[in-house]
Amino acid sequence: MNYRHAFHAGNFADLQKHAILLALLAALTKDHTPLAVIDTHAGAGAYDLGGDMARKSGEAQAGIGRLLTATDAPPVFDALLAAVRRLNKGETGPLYPGSPVLIAGALRPTDRYTACELRPDDFATLSATLKPYAFAQASAADGYATARSLAGKGGRTLVLIDPPFERSDDYAQVVATVRAVLDKARTAVLAIWLPLKDLETFDAFLRSLQTVTDDALVAELRLRPLHDPMKMNGCAMVLIGAPPAVEPAIAEATRWLAGALGQAGGSGRTWRTAA
Ligand SMILES: C[S@@+](CC[C@H](N)C(=O)[O-])C[C@H]1O[C@@H](n2cnc3c(N)ncnc32)[C@H](O)[C@@H]1O
Repeated sequence: MNYRHAFHAGNFADLQKHAILLALLAALTKDHTPLAVIDTHAGAGAYDLGGDMARKSGEAQAGIGRLLTATDAPPVFDALLAAVRRLNKGETGPLYPGSPVLIAGALRPTDRYTACELRPDDFATLSATLKPYAFAQASAADGYATARSLAGKGGRTLVLIDPPFERSDDYAQVVATVRAVLDKARTAVLAIWLPLKDLETFDAFLRSLQTVTDDALVAELRLRPLHDPMKMNGCAMVLIGAPPAVEPAIAEATRWLAGALGQAGGSGRTWRTAA
């Protein structure tokens, strides 16, 4: 496993994923039903954007760096900006929250959070990051297998699936995990992150997903036209079972990021596979 999220933390893809994640968490913690969150690929928990890896890629500067200085960012980014400020103790600081810090910060003591990370170094940081939260558990186990075994145990289930896509079977594993989770917990909410390089791979994934569910919401963020399949030209969040009230926020985040951070020919479109 070579992937290190520290190179990419705070980039355009994190902004879309994290704004949508926080909107989902706000909607799913409104009533008294306990929420069980499974984060299949959690990463280190939080990132120092002043560190070597982040500085080398420059991705955070073009992402959260731009969002922090934007004067027209829509309200869907308010919760993420507040989490960044909280992590930096109210100052302008170099820290950026990963999904674990965002999820743990949004949950209540009656909820449960399982965060899976296979890399021993990132797992150690993750464990330390989650230590203050009694309802949170860092796990060094495979995230796909953990989601399949834990889904449906205790309250409503939210599964974030955010693989590095460095294994050839990641797409197949994602679909198999969605199938297993929905078999055990029909009302589970799933949020899947995908890179957008070329349309063939993305379409093939969506076709495969349609063998499991015929209604997914796709928030497709193209930073530029998909001419060069060797580049990450954008990303997408695919949502299953998301509360309808969150859909405008999902669309707004995706549209704004395409306009503010994209190049000519970029677009931010949200659509349903069932339509
Ligand atoms: C894209 S990063 C996660 C970022 C994180 N979700 C966030 O938003 O802050 C993917 C992480 O998954 C880890 N990983 C890779 N395969 C895994 C697996 N099968 N189970 C659990 N973790 C895995 C990698 O080491 C990497 O840290």
